[in-house]
Amino acid sequence: MAGYPVVLLPGDGIGPEITEATREVLEATGVEIDWRPYETGIAAMEKAGTPLPEEVVEEIRRWGVALKGPITTPVGTGFSSVTVALRQRLDLYANLRPVRSIPGVPARYSDVDLVIIRENTEDLYAGIEYRIDEDTVVAEKRITRRASLRIARFAFDYASRYGRRQITAVHKANILKMSDGLFLQCAREVAGQYPQVPYTERIVDALCMDLVLDPGRHDVLLCPNLYGDIVSDLAAGLVGGLGLAPAANVGDGVAIFEAVHGSAPDIAGKGIANPTALILAGAMMLAHLGESAAAVRIERAVWETYRRGQALTPDMGGTATTREMARAVVECLE
Ligand code: NAI
Ligand code: MG
Repeated sequence: MAGYPVVLLPGDGIGPEITEATREVLEATGVEIDWRPYETGIAAMEKAGTPLPEEVVEEIRRWGVALKGPITTPVGTGFSSVTVALRQRLDLYANLRPVRSIPGVPARYSDVDLVIIRENTEDLYAGIEYRIDEDTVVAEKRITRRASLRIARFAFDYASRYGRRQITAVHKANILKMSDGLFLQCAREVAGQYPQVPYTERIVDALCMDLVLDPGRHDVLLCPNLYGDIVSDLAAGLVGGLGLAPAANVGDGVAIFEAVHGSAPDIAGKGIANPTALILAGAMMLAHLGESAAAVRIERAVWETYRRGQALTPDMGGTATTREMARAVVECLE
């Protein structure tokens, strides 16, 4: 089959439901995609004895693009996060998370336009934990100059390319003087090379308050890994919830597109998950593949679906199923 080769990881929980919905919308644009589906997580564990078979990593490296549903990570014990492993193995160092209001969505704010750029490979997510004695464990927060400079450059390149208003570096360098201190020092160094992009800094707790009170105070948020994770969900809450927020994990020559949210075990299998976040991630993927016109059509169709308000999932106050919402988006494609 002709078309763009794209590795498809449906994931688990609501993953298969929302990836199916997203596939339907992407295919309705007429862009030809040669899907290459693979199992990961619990399903792969049962069949292959590992949650992330080597073949999956190699396929993504080979084709350069993947669309991924959420994958459940057991809490406390069991295998470690497949999502985090993919980011580290493929060196997907930038996690790009646009957070925009969609007209018609019941939300705290209606004019949010933020971009979160999250360092994606280190910080506490390096996953280095060890026991000192029976009652004491330590987790390492690893920050390197290389990764910090790289993510700062990504943020400033992004901001200049898309004419963004300002970059705010998010940190806790008052307490973590060495680790967040190094992150901040690198951000400042890169800021000096982009005099045309206004640059500021904010301590992460104060930033959270800013966002809740007045999200317009900020524009592009440059975050170390953990703060980026937390701030992303907070920001998604400002525009109506996790069901709406897309993400791209970007490295050199490889990118994985997914939703910010997880596998939502509380609603999995009911067919009522909101597919919007992954559909918007799919639009980001088409733009990445050079199909910008199709990407814009999908965004407009999503907006139109919310404007009409007739096929919304329960988290948005409606009664539609995942599939019905996907059909509605397809109908709104021009
Ligand atoms: P979650 O994001 O799955 O769910 C949080 C809340 O938001 C739940 O009430 C859920 O029903 C709701 N929600 C999330 N997505 C929704 C959607 N599309 N439509 C409607 N409601 C939605 O976070 P939680 O419960 O902390 O994590 C569940 C599992 O997902 C965990 O195993 C976690 O490790 C994994 N996870 C995976 C991610 C990934 O693969 N990228 C990202 C985040 C979590
Ligand atoms: Mg998260």
